[in-house]
Amino acid sequence: MYCKIARQYIVKVKYTNKIFVIGWHKNILRCFAPAVTVQGMKNLSGQDPQIAEQINNEVRRQQNGLEMIASENIVSEAVLEAMGTPLTNKYSEGYPGKRYYGGNEFIDVIENLARERACKLFGAEHANVQPHAGSPANMAAYFAMMEPGDKLMAMSLAHGGHLTHGSPVNFSGKLYKIIPYGVREDNHMIDMDEVREIALREKPRVILAGATAYPRLIDFEKFFEIAKEVGAYFMVDMAHIAGLVAAKVHPDPIPYADVVTTTTHKTLRGPRGAMILCKKEDRLHPDDNPTSYKASQGKRKNMAQKIDSAVFPGLQGGPLEHIIAAKAVAFGEALKPEFAEYGRQIIANAKQLAKTFKEEGVEMVSGGTDNHLLLLDLTNLGISGKEAETVLDSVGIYTNRNTVPNETRSPFDPSGLRIGTPALTTRGLIEEDMAVVGRIMAGVLKNPKNENILENARKAVKELAEKYPIYPDWSV
Ligand SMILES: Cc1ncc(COP(=O)(O)O)c(C=O)c1O
Repeated sequence: MYCKIARQYIVKVKYTNKIFVIGWHKNILRCFAPAVTVQGMKNLSGQDPQIAEQINNEVRRQQNGLEMIASENIVSEAVLEAMGTPLTNKYSEGYPGKRYYGGNEFIDVIENLARERACKLFGAEHANVQPHAGSPANMAAYFAMMEPGDKLMAMSLAHGGHLTHGSPVNFSGKLYKIIPYGVREDNHMIDMDEVREIALREKPRVILAGATAYPRLIDFEKFFEIAKEVGAYFMVDMAHIAGLVAAKVHPDPIPYADVVTTTTHKTLRGPRGAMILCKKEDRLHPDDNPTSYKASQGKRKNMAQKIDSAVFPGLQGGPLEHIIAAKAVAFGEALKPEFAEYGRQIIANAKQLAKTFKEEGVEMVSGGTDNHLLLLDLTNLGISGKEAETVLDSVGIYTNRNTVPNETRSPFDPSGLRIGTPALTTRGLIEEDMAVVGRIMAGVLKNPKNENILENARKAVKELAEKYPIYPDWSV
């Protein structure tokens, strides 16, 4: 019993960024403290109980369930605190040292810290931390490198790409000529020979690597070789894997890509938002670099300047400096050695889940995973992605339905289910817990109408959720 509590506690210390001594005191104090639901909501609860109630409900849902949506995570309380500050009151259009409003001396320090930490974390030459989300970050990157009508070569949505990688219902599919590539039919991995063949034939302006539902490693070096060969810019959207790259447990795109975009809220475990990292110089148009004589005559821009002006004034107005402060806090956390351990554990947990699913006869696209996510193919279980998502929801396990390569059903009710381990890993779950989670899920997916099995699953989920609280000092 003692060992179990001690182990659980140590794990919590390891993965939730708690300082041991503070955590220990807080744990003792918790026994005597009155119940607090959401920290710092005393004003909101009095003034707007309707909203406060729903926030409390949502926190309770997060605490009492198991979040397995691959793109979600649980930020630290320090990140939460930075977001809820009067920095939201400030207008600061422009960039540090070049603002269009007065009173930005402290905001400049914060945004510079965020930029410096981002560059340090990823070894990047330049960082723009202002994009409000991953989609506008991609839009700004495209604006910097392409004109409307140019060819963008990116992973097809049906094979794991994101909406902003060329969906016809998205700005990307409307503004650019999309050249899709996909995964091989036999092993569901990106076929680099086919990527090269398409690139040589189509000569795109930009080749984009990165995905939203691809469970395998991406060979950025090979992509870059192809981009160089055909004279294309090389862009990486590492939204899903940024935390794994920061933890050095995934191949690093930074040395190769001209531009890298990422959200900050997925594996990177920061606030909802995004950033763009890039090379200073424009590799394909060196005459555009202001250091060249020709450019200095025409005031042309290098890549870093093109990215900055694509974000502001090209696309956005005032940056969200409270979120930028929270990004800086999250980058600071990711720079700590514990974050490397967190990244390693995310993958170990995903691999354990894959092993359990294999034992249970649940099929996976590509047969397993190398990163934080798994794409289940439910065809042989006779349950659709939508039904699976709904029945798992009913036992407190949150996932999202997803198409599988060469999908035969509709995207609204596809054959697949995407799941991931970043949030559960933050809570402190380790391999042995993931085996339990995998067995619960397999049982539910195979018996979606068996009330006994569903009830047992609910109990098991509750036990795990209680064992690993999302914010240990909160009473929810
Ligand atoms: C690969 C990828 N890029 C971009 C985005 C867009 O991010 P956001 O939802 O913040 O606009 C996502 C979101 O899921 C993504 O998976």
